[in-house]
Amino acid sequence: MHPSSFTHKVGLGLRPPHYSFLEQRPSTEVAWFEAISENYMDSRGRPMEMLQLIRQDYPIALHGVSMNIGSPEGIRLDYLQKLRDLIDRVEPFIVSDHLCWTGTSDMNMHDLLPLPFTEDSVATLVNNIDFVQTFLRRPLILENVSTYISYRRNEMSEWDFVSEVSRRSGCGLLLDINNVYVNSYNHGFDPHYFLNHIPMDRVAQVHMAGPSDYGDFLFDTHSTDIPEPVWNLFKILAPQIRHLPILIERDEDIPDFHELEVEVMKAVYILESSHESERSIEPV
Ligand SMILES: [Fe+2]
Repeated sequence: MHPSSFTHKVGLGLRPPHYSFLEQRPSTEVAWFEAISENYMDSRGRPMEMLQLIRQDYPIALHGVSMNIGSPEGIRLDYLQKLRDLIDRVEPFIVSDHLCWTGTSDMNMHDLLPLPFTEDSVATLVNNIDFVQTFLRRPLILENVSTYISYRRNEMSEWDFVSEVSRRSGCGLLLDINNVYVNSYNHGFDPHYFLNHIPMDRVAQVHMAGPSDYGDFLFDTHSTDIPEPVWNLFKILAPQIRHLPILIERDEDIPDFHELEVEVMKAVYILESSHESERSIEPV
């Protein structure tokens, strides 16, 4: 059984290459797992069996990649029904998706596409979030995404957009620190300014990951170890997020489970070394 001695709640993304390992030996370092909702919605075979096996020992968060919460066409009912069925089976402690759009009603782009930061987008999101939260009968948590373009017609900054959506819709925020770092590099802003201007009291979960460096821009691949600049932002935020579930994400070039456990242990160490009284976010 999973030990209950964790001071801080650091989890890991559940990925198929680790199924065999987890079947044999539950991790003693990882406090919970986050499963990609779409990988289990239509599964009646091994993926669902593994998720239910792991659910016996660990809390599970469900993280979606195709709700299309920014769609002006509204949210697909068949998708929401499948998500609600999965929620009923898994009983997750968090249900999240991304603050983006992913296509039209007849075409899923299978990508997390940027929304224009406009009043129109905020209004669409508030309507859609209200619909989803009512349908699921639970809060929805939405994640800030990595982007590589920005719209000329943006009316506000990303941090004001994220804050406004959360304030007006009542949704929680999934703060992806890697995505803040990627966007600060790609769009030329100070990541500390972003972190200072979002409502930390609305943050319900945190993601940590590593991007690929293409020189002119960073690409959010989740294929590398978490880089030092992301750890530095995590250290600065630690006093404010030490009570939250933290997740280490890895989606490509997935190493042995033990390698990712080392990153989990590093995050726990940083959180345990932080002090709640250190509340201001200042550049290092
Ligand atoms: Fe993320």
